[in-house]
Amino acid sequence: MKILITGSNGMLGHDLTEVLKDNHELILTTSKTLDITNKDQVFEVICDAEPDVVINSAAYTDVDGCEENQDLAYSVNGEGVKNLALACKEVDCALVHISTDYIFNGKNDRPWVEDDEIGPISVYGKSKLKGEEAILETLDKYFIVRTAWLYGINGKNFPKTMLELAKNHSEITVVYDEVGTPTYTPDLAYGISELIETDYYGIYHLTNSGNCSWCEFARYIFEVADKDVKVVPVTASEFARPAPRPSYSVLENKNWVDKGFKPLRSYKEAIKEYVELIK
Ligand SMILES: NC(=O)c1ccc[n+]([C@@H]2O[C@H](COP(=O)([O-])OP(=O)(O)OC[C@H]3O[C@@H](n4cnc5c(N)ncnc54)[C@H](OP(=O)(O)O)[C@@H]3O)[C@@H](O)[C@H]2O)c1
Repeated sequence: MKILITGSNGMLGHDLTEVLKDNHELILTTSKTLDITNKDQVFEVICDAEPDVVINSAAYTDVDGCEENQDLAYSVNGEGVKNLALACKEVDCALVHISTDYIFNGKNDRPWVEDDEIGPISVYGKSKLKGEEAILETLDKYFIVRTAWLYGINGKNFPKTMLELAKNHSEITVVYDEVGTPTYTPDLAYGISELIETDYYGIYHLTNSGNCSWCEFARYIFEVADKDVKVVPVTASEFARPAPRPSYSVLENKNWVDKGFKPLRSYKEAIKEYVELIK
């Protein structure tokens, strides 16, 4: 297939490229060669390439930054996605769009399923929801893939920060009242590579299996990395940040499993592999 990837030098974009490059013709774009907020450029590049699939891994992902730069958040995560959806409709190709657990409000006592009520509590979540809505209004051939707590080789992320801090701290405070599922970007990229072989269009939750709090995750990272660091639990309100985060954002991969796909491996297995790679 001919696949155009936006944001290809981002954390997920990098691993999508690695996973897809051997079996597909890839058109890799970055914010410099394809700024998704520039409608004319989006149409020009996509109409010229005529891909079978566009995978949008571009986004404004600085969750706290979104609170301050609201216009930028809505422009990239909302309008930018609308531009892509319109261009995909023009050339009749499928759009894979990556969305987030932050479109839920975090108040639940069971994992969220795809058709649960939406209720973002941050600008980032609201802007990502605008992106989802633009696709639903515009396209039939779409895969909206909601994922969570990403980490990979190419980018800033929680496990990297923890291992960096471990170099000169014997004690670290970590939030314990936010629960979700850490997800390894190569595993997610592999899942997307399976999805695009089908025409099972729709909304998917896709994460590694299992769940934990940030605090449990930090402890597990130090255990597998063999680091002697004391993790002190704190509440999210003690660890004040500009953007509120959902307190419970575990995503049940219901549609994924219902369609016959194999669940992604456990987050514990995935983080072991990652720690081995980067330590
Ligand atoms: N990270 C997470 O924990 C997480 C969790 C759930 C869902 N997601 C979603 O997963 C997707 C991938 O996230 P990620 O962590 O891989 O993000 P990332 O590392 O921040 O990469 C995002 C990429 O988007 C590009 N970009 C920004 N504005 C753009 C524009 N106007 N036009 C074109 N490209 C633009 C950036 O390029 P420049 O650097 O050149 O600006 C960057 O390469 C995003 O949709 C995100 O919302 C992420």
